[in-house]
Amino acid sequence: MESLLPEHWFVGNRFSKVGRALLGATGAVYRVPVPHPGRDDFALVVKFSRFCQSVGITAVDPNLNFSEEQIDRIKSAYFLSPFEEFGNLYKLRRSAGLEIPTKAPLAIYSPPARYLDWQLGREGYLKSIHSRGLLGSQADVPEDQRIDYQWERQYILLYQWINGVDAEQAVDAGLISQSQMISLGREARNRMEDHGWEVMDHKPRHVIIRVRKNDRLARRKGDLLWALVDYELLYPFSKITPNQKTSC
Ligand SMILES: Nc1ncnc2c1ncn2[C@@H]1O[C@H](COP(=O)(O)OP(=O)(O)O)[C@@H](O)[C@H]1O
Ligand SMILES: [Mg+2]
Repeated sequence: MESLLPEHWFVGNRFSKVGRALLGATGAVYRVPVPHPGRDDFALVVKFSRFCQSVGITAVDPNLNFSEEQIDRIKSAYFLSPFEEFGNLYKLRRSAGLEIPTKAPLAIYSPPARYLDWQLGREGYLKSIHSRGLLGSQADVPEDQRIDYQWERQYILLYQWINGVDAEQAVDAGLISQSQMISLGREARNRMEDHGWEVMDHKPRHVIIRVRKNDRLARRKGDLLWALVDYELLYPFSKITPNQKTSC
């Protein structure tokens, strides 16, 4: 708890001065080392939520043989709100446990600074969808105690850093082959599906190959150990049959 206090990672933009921006990020994501009473290598992933911003073009990997409907669903998905992101991740972690290791979700911080609409780039129709969803989930809360998003503020998600390199970097560094990268991606996707989840922007950069303290790749019974990162588009899996249209 002490490690999460804003003075260690936020105040004075420490996330960008002490921390480093993560390569391959499409949004603002930083790795920031923070003091920890029991570990000297403890670090946070500081991730600015992009909910209500448009997702842009999602690349769909041709190796994954998606149906047209699945591609439509992927292309129309929008970023989860910070609360939905943590909620979905908690459900995935509870069901998959060690089978699909993920970063531990630690906290959501909304700094007091206020911004103008155009500075945060949030789309009006997405704000309405999110507000309706949040209000709808509070039917049993007295009306004067219901909460809404504060649209003029930012939301930052804090996760625990996992030691490793992403599968694409691992190929570039000659640590694994291209075909190992593809099969790790498939394995991650299949395991997710088995537990009822999918990440809409499925890509090798989201599979982190775990590295031990001595810089060697971590293995169990010969198999590489990996973990999954990036949950902005973590949705319940929906198998779409040709006659069944589903929206996210
Ligand atoms: N624990 C980690 N270990 C190694 N690399 C990571 C880790 N977390 C994130 N990264 C790298 O940082 C990139 C950006 O993080 P990500 O959460 O995917 O941000 P974005 O939503 O902007 O894509 C990842 O694609 C991956 O390459
Ligand atoms: Mg990503």
